[in-house]
Amino acid sequence: MKELIEKLIQEAKEEIARASTLAQLEELRVKYLGRKGSFTTIMQGLKDIPNEEKPAAGQALNHGKKSLESDLETKQHNLEQEELEKQLNDDTFDITRPGITFPVGHIHPLSRVQKEVEEIFGQMGFAVMDGPEIESEHYNFEALNVPKDHPARDMQDTFFVSSKHHEQHGRMVLRTQTSPTQIRSMEKYGAPLRAIMPGRVFRYEATDASHDSTFYQVEGLLIDKDVSLANLKGVMTEFLTRLFKRETKVRFRPGYFPFVEPGIELDMWCLLCNGKGCRVCKQTGWMEFMGAGMVHRNVLKAGGIDPDIYKGWAFGFGLTRLVMMKYGIDDIRHLMNGDLRFLEQF
Ligand code: DAH
Repeated sequence: MKELIEKLIQEAKEEIARASTLAQLEELRVKYLGRKGSFTTIMQGLKDIPNEEKPAAGQALNHGKKSLESDLETKQHNLEQEELEKQLNDDTFDITRPGITFPVGHIHPLSRVQKEVEEIFGQMGFAVMDGPEIESEHYNFEALNVPKDHPARDMQDTFFVSSKHHEQHGRMVLRTQTSPTQIRSMEKYGAPLRAIMPGRVFRYEATDASHDSTFYQVEGLLIDKDVSLANLKGVMTEFLTRLFKRETKVRFRPGYFPFVEPGIELDMWCLLCNGKGCRVCKQTGWMEFMGAGMVHRNVLKAGGIDPDIYKGWAFGFGLTRLVMMKYGIDDIRHLMNGDLRFLEQF
């Protein structure tokens, strides 16, 4: 009996070794070890053999079964490996092919420059403040020393908004300038104060290459006991030099804004021709940059600050125009219309 078993095992091992596919291997497993397989049959037959042969036969059977199981497992592993290699070899997979690209957005040029502006002023000790885009006439005009009959309030310049808070706050407008935030920050933080206030502003006007109904400004305000326009000149020269990463000069000209006295216009050195005079600066060597001046007494009072103790200067420049200058953009409308053909260039 023992010999018979050993012969069977020998046969099975050879067949397993010869198997060349996983399917064949599975067939062999069923044939020998399956429920109706040879080993099961012999196992059932054990009871009929003479008692003295039983232990040896049983042992041979168990031993053989284990050995076959291990052969099957090894063979299966090898066949799987081969199959995988074959698949890999057959596959015409080109690892140099470009992958799937996902569209990734990026920061809008206006936001990027705004951040740069905030960083530079931040380094000079200015806080960054925010104000509402829908303002009361009080903050947008009155508190800024713009009288009731001033033409800036005309329908021509201003979007008036119908509001149920009319009674409480007066008429509401889409703010025409970031200057109302000056009053809000004075009210909130008092003096001394150093802040810039970037934001979106609105004007009711026809659009063309250099005018849009929506654009961005940056307001600046410095209030302290001993302040002069010389400080403003220093701060602005430093700011523009850092922003454009090259030596820049500024100059003052007289200008009128109701909320400052004296009021000035600040020009910057034309960066295109370095002051020599070119088409862009209309041969003057200078480019108009912003309005500024010493904060009017009435404005300090409106912000709750005593003009006999404190004084200060303020400025307002067009962030949109600055971005256009920085990147050489010739039409303001590109910056707000969301056209990807334009935006993807940045
Ligand atoms: N708010 C003005 C404008 O929109 C700009 C401006 C001028 C702001 C002079 C100021 C200033 O703070 O002092 O045209």
